[in-house]
Amino acid sequence: MYVFLTGPPGVGKSVVAPKLARKLGARMVDLDRAIERQARKPVTRVFAEDGEARFRQLEREALRALPDAAAWTVVATGGGAAVDAVNRAAMRERGLIVGLGGRLSTLRRRIADGARPLLAGEAGSRLAEIVERRRFAYADADLRIPTDERTPDEVASLVAEAIVQERGTWTFVGGAERYPVRLRLGALEELGWIATTVGITGRVALLVDRGLGRRHLTAAVAALRESGSSPVVITVAPGEAAKSFRSLEGVWRALARARVGRDDAVLGLGGGSVTDLAGFAAATYARGIRWVAVPTTLLGMVDAAIGGKTAIDLPEGKNLAGAFHDPAAVVMDIRLLESLLPRERRSGLAEVVKTGVVAERALFDQVDRSADALRDGDTQALFTAVAACVRVKGGIVSADPRETGIRLSLNFGHTFGHALEAATRYRRYAHGEAVALGMVFASALAEKLDLSGPDLRLQLEGLLERIGLPTRCRVPSAVWEIVERDKKRHGGRTRWILPRRIGRVSVVEDVPPRALRSAARILER
Ligand SMILES: NC(=O)c1ccc[n+]([C@@H]2O[C@H](COP(=O)([O-])OP(=O)(O)OC[C@H]3O[C@@H](n4cnc5c(N)ncnc54)[C@H](O)[C@@H]3O)[C@@H](O)[C@H]2O)c1
Ligand SMILES: [Zn+2]
Repeated sequence: MYVFLTGPPGVGKSVVAPKLARKLGARMVDLDRAIERQARKPVTRVFAEDGEARFRQLEREALRALPDAAAWTVVATGGGAAVDAVNRAAMRERGLIVGLGGRLSTLRRRIADGARPLLAGEAGSRLAEIVERRRFAYADADLRIPTDERTPDEVASLVAEAIVQERGTWTFVGGAERYPVRLRLGALEELGWIATTVGITGRVALLVDRGLGRRHLTAAVAALRESGSSPVVITVAPGEAAKSFRSLEGVWRALARARVGRDDAVLGLGGGSVTDLAGFAAATYARGIRWVAVPTTLLGMVDAAIGGKTAIDLPEGKNLAGAFHDPAAVVMDIRLLESLLPRERRSGLAEVVKTGVVAERALFDQVDRSADALRDGDTQALFTAVAACVRVKGGIVSADPRETGIRLSLNFGHTFGHALEAATRYRRYAHGEAVALGMVFASALAEKLDLSGPDLRLQLEGLLERIGLPTRCRVPSAVWEIVERDKKRHGGRTRWILPRRIGRVSVVEDVPPRALRSAARILER
């Protein structure tokens, strides 16, 4: 996702850009610097020696060359970049245009010290003329931020807040029937109209985690009422207990008692446990009705609520009874994460790190840049991390909805992680902690099999440690029995998802037991 800062000369685009990037954990690109690298000379010389037309051509090429990425990049554009409608279309395709504005007097003051090729000489009148001529182009922005009487820091804060609160993001996921994923600080208020927009006009049965604050439930109910729906609230046990057969039966019967019909819908408000239960109840009740996921945990947002996998647990194992059933919409309100326990947040961050290792180096770097902010629950850093993960996971599940190919890669860290959770009876480790250890194990295994060097593991460990996730543990022998047992379930083969480099993993089967043992020794060191 790109954020393009546009606006007249002197408005402060290149000063604000790095500050904004820092707030969002984003990378920063100065379009003029990219042009200079291409032209192998300073922008002023391109203008003087090759003319403005050549400069504009280079500018267009530099915009087009920006690689598509889920991770965030802030781009400071030159004053003229947004003038070309083709450039604006290219920017919109890749992200958001944020127009910075200011009075002429402000611009003049800020320009006074910089070297501006287009303003050389009779600076004053030339600037007024440029601003007037480009008025329409500058106005064509997704967000417009006035900068007068504001420091660059204040402008950067204002832009970050506007992106997270006013604007938010929309991602569309799925194959034939794509569904919207809405992410915004305050998205809960939009719940009613989003449900209506995707065609949910009947009754809504709202499944909610009993442990979730009353406040969130009240806000969700109010939003649904506002759009004319009168939701039936069904509370379920907090956490994993929601995914029991008894709990599912309770939900089915509550739906029947409330006379929920085929045209009605289920809405799951809670962590991954509640959205898994809500989705499975919706998949099975009345042979399948529609549902909306409103994840309230970080893990729910970056993982569980995207991709249509729904399930309950059986005494014989987790997620053993389930179905693929895509939601009609997913609504994510970053504000809900404010009440999350730090341990739950860290647990979700393990899946964020996983997403980076599996799919995109730039995302790993983004998480690395904002690791401290993420660990501390900073809203803006969480927002960009969730938005990037939704895009990555959305892309993967859209390409492979039934998990027969590329989607398997999302199990990175999970073969070992699941076994460790089961071997310690789901008591010792939060899911993300087990996944963190599983990722370290998989990297150690990749190292032993010569698929990657040790730097990869060290980088991964460094990031996990900064977030506050474990990287070392005792490996109980029961882990190997569980890996063996799961092997039988998967046609006699254990699939390991092993990293080759950050941003790329491979599926490897038939790993010799000796390699497993020596990877485990690294974990126990
Ligand atoms: N379907 C999928 O693709 C998929 C993917 C990953 C995980 N999952 C499933 O997700 C489940 C785990 O989900 P989870 O980690 O979200 O845990 P969870 O749903 O069990 O919730 C964890 C705890 O957080 C509390 N909580 C939830 N939201 C809160 C909030 N906003 N503020 C304060 N407390 C809050 C809950 O009451 C609970 O005690 C597992 O059952 C797992 O199998 C499913
Ligand atoms: Zn997981």
